[in-house]
Amino acid sequence: MRTTKRIALLSTTLVAALALAACSGGSGGDSDAGGETHTMKLALNQTEDHPSFIALEAFGEKLAEDTDGRWNIEVYPNSTLGDQNEYLQSVSDGVIDLAIVSAPQLENLQKDFVIFSLPTVFDSIDHQMDALADPEVVGDVYTSLEDSNNITVVGGFTQGARNMYTKDGIAETPADLKGKKIRVQESPVFIAMIEALGGSPTPMAYSEVYTGLQSGVIDGAENNEISYFTQKHFEVAPFFSNTQHLIGADFLIINSGTLDGMSDEDRAAFDAGWEQTWKQHTELWKTQTEEAIAEAKAGGATFGDVDTAAYTEALSPLLDEFITTDSQRTLYDAIRASAE
Ligand code: GCU
Repeated sequence: MRTTKRIALLSTTLVAALALAACSGGSGGDSDAGGETHTMKLALNQTEDHPSFIALEAFGEKLAEDTDGRWNIEVYPNSTLGDQNEYLQSVSDGVIDLAIVSAPQLENLQKDFVIFSLPTVFDSIDHQMDALADPEVVGDVYTSLEDSNNITVVGGFTQGARNMYTKDGIAETPADLKGKKIRVQESPVFIAMIEALGGSPTPMAYSEVYTGLQSGVIDGAENNEISYFTQKHFEVAPFFSNTQHLIGADFLIINSGTLDGMSDEDRAAFDAGWEQTWKQHTELWKTQTEEAIAEAKAGGATFGDVDTAAYTEALSPLLDEFITTDSQRTLYDAIRASAE
């Protein structure tokens, strides 16, 4: 490790230690030998009825049980600990231990993560989840932020297929999006995606989308059915176009120092608990997607099919535009090979 990097890392660790010491709810317990408990804060931007909250709450309960109370997780939903771009810094500094962030947030720290947001990279949710949980496929991308940012990626959750929704009618072809202000996650690939469809991309935090739609600052957004329903976006953008333009990925991230502080036994319990968690999440995802569609329709939303070939064609240049390095190509090829 170069000296400058080591100093940066040491100071990050120091800041993290101070922050944890000052923070009564943090995981700053003493060593296990002292019988201390560690309560890890987990930041989430979803509601309590979202599959991520339900699965992560269960993760915390299981972890506490399996470590005899040495490790606990307290989930903070509804963006109460800020927005996802803030979670990266807070986890890096150790102010919070864990967070769920969308792939585009990680893309801003490390360009290989863009691969997880490209259209056509995943064939289905099952393909995606098998790939995200397979070390042979993801290689060392999950540990690639440890030296630079003190962040370890634990693993992935599906976001399902993302779709366009607007205030004024089904977008049957990309031409219907021409000039429309569409909210995107804050990342280059999402901006390029809306540009490729002819819309005007407006980067904005998730928690601001409802009021953005309501006030007319944006004309539409894109997301999965569960977010569309749980965030109540259907109330202010009632036309949901089944574009299914990509299958999105979320990631659980943890402060690397927190992870290092677990004994081998507790780390094994953490890893086993996580495996159970993402599997439960994937199951919940499928049933809740159907429920979200039914509830949004009952609330007045219209769902409409689109010319999928026209969307696929408009988005296909993104692959060449965003796969530019050897490591990105390797990751992309490994994910594709795992589909076959
Ligand atoms: C999905 C995803 C979130 C993300 C959100 C967004 O809901 O699960 O992690 O923040 O989309 O569009 O910002």
